[in-house]
Amino acid sequence: MVANRLPVDRIEMPDGSTAWRRSPGGLVTALAPVMQGHHGAWIGWTGSPDEKLDPFDDNGMHLVPVMLSAEDVQLYYEGFSNATLWPLYHDVIVAPEFHREWWESYVAVNRRFAEAAAEAADDNADVWVHDYQLQLVPAMLRRLRPDVRIGFFLHIPFPPTELFAQMPWRRQILDGLMGADLVGFQRPGAASNFARLARNRMGLRTRGDRIHLPDDRIVRAKAFPISIDVNELESLARQPETTARAAEMRQEVGNPEHILLGVDRLDYTKGIRQRLRAFGELLDEKRVSVDDAVFIQVATPSRERVEQYRVLRDEIELLVGRINGEHGRIGTPAINYLHTSYSRTEMAALFRAADVAVVTPLRDGMNLVAKEYVSTRYDDTGALVLSEFAGAADEFRQAFLVNPHDINGMKDTIVDAMNTDERQLGRRMKAMRKHLAAHDVNVWAQTFLKALHDED
Ligand code: ADP
Ligand code: G6P
Repeated sequence: MVANRLPVDRIEMPDGSTAWRRSPGGLVTALAPVMQGHHGAWIGWTGSPDEKLDPFDDNGMHLVPVMLSAEDVQLYYEGFSNATLWPLYHDVIVAPEFHREWWESYVAVNRRFAEAAAEAADDNADVWVHDYQLQLVPAMLRRLRPDVRIGFFLHIPFPPTELFAQMPWRRQILDGLMGADLVGFQRPGAASNFARLARNRMGLRTRGDRIHLPDDRIVRAKAFPISIDVNELESLARQPETTARAAEMRQEVGNPEHILLGVDRLDYTKGIRQRLRAFGELLDEKRVSVDDAVFIQVATPSRERVEQYRVLRDEIELLVGRINGEHGRIGTPAINYLHTSYSRTEMAALFRAADVAVVTPLRDGMNLVAKEYVSTRYDDTGALVLSEFAGAADEFRQAFLVNPHDINGMKDTIVDAMNTDERQLGRRMKAMRKHLAAHDVNVWAQTFLKALHDED
């Protein structure tokens, strides 16, 4: 497995010592349980600059660190990965920046990952490369190790061809991905965007999910919607201590009739501003009141040195302050805003405490938070408000689907979710849980790895 991040993050403690912590984000949530069930190595970065570490074992996984210098972090990670590719692939919600220096660093760091993979892989191994930070690795690795089979999975959306065409290095990125035997996407639309580029920009012939290369090689491009380890949070959710903690949380926020919950990395793709505006307007219009509804928004710090993330944090905190100033009372804020990350047990309790999960990204490859919420609702209670622009909306047709750009529509749907009767909610949740149970992350991994070996 090759990914920009290792599943654990090296952090500095207040006393100057260092410790390991679970890395943020959906990629790690999905891949860690898969890796724990397989032999093999996970090649990635520890999250801190200039750190040269030997391979080590953690939680049943063999981890091989790749070093990034402070300059690599700035140019390759914060720059090209998160200020060029991330916004470009998420429908240019903010404007992507194109800098030649960032691109050069992206190429150099991708080469380093390809070399690390070439060194770690056994003869004829399967090498599975992940996400937008490493799109050049498949072709680089193929040149170094023609014997291995290479899969690539993109965890985020793949943009429409008109947007991808803005990329000055579009040809190099396509060439990089074409080094894989199988390229996986979250949604079928993303796979067809990629196939269209292969035809129109590279002049390649495509048939179904197959792309024919001039050297007679075939690359397959297909959707493999990712999932979670369904049992993980569900078993935490079923523990009596979690039930007690969820009750305590309800008490702490004043025992309202409805608790609404948002859980995200603090990222401009997540639609946090839109959802809080919708809630604020419902309070303005007295369609909800702080006596019967409280919003808990947990926002994990993310990519904090990237300008657009700083701007977003200021905007969200201004908005929360404004809404609480207008509608909160002593001891009862309208929005409980927490700029922090929680343990998995605390997360399970939060999901159990929430009557309505509000998941409203403007664009999201999948969104695992939606799946996590459903996994904890073992008694078929609770409502999921879900953006149509999250990959999860393809699977959770019984969610309360919203267009997060339409604030009025979102307000009506949130009120609808709060007021729908238990039987109806139970029917919806049951159907979503049934789907989720049959589409665990291990099924996803098996399906991908099987397709990687399919000859037909
Ligand atoms: P992304 O991959 O863009 O971060 P996902 O919704 O797919 O979005 O995955 C987010 C993952 O991060 C989930 O596993 C979620 O539980 C976790 N997460 C998000 N916010 C927090 C938080 N405040 N504390 C702990 N974990 C969080
Ligand atoms: C998303 C991306 C991952 C990334 C994660 C956290 O899930 O798809 O590749 O690891 O966000 O972001 P970070 O920049 O902290 O690794």
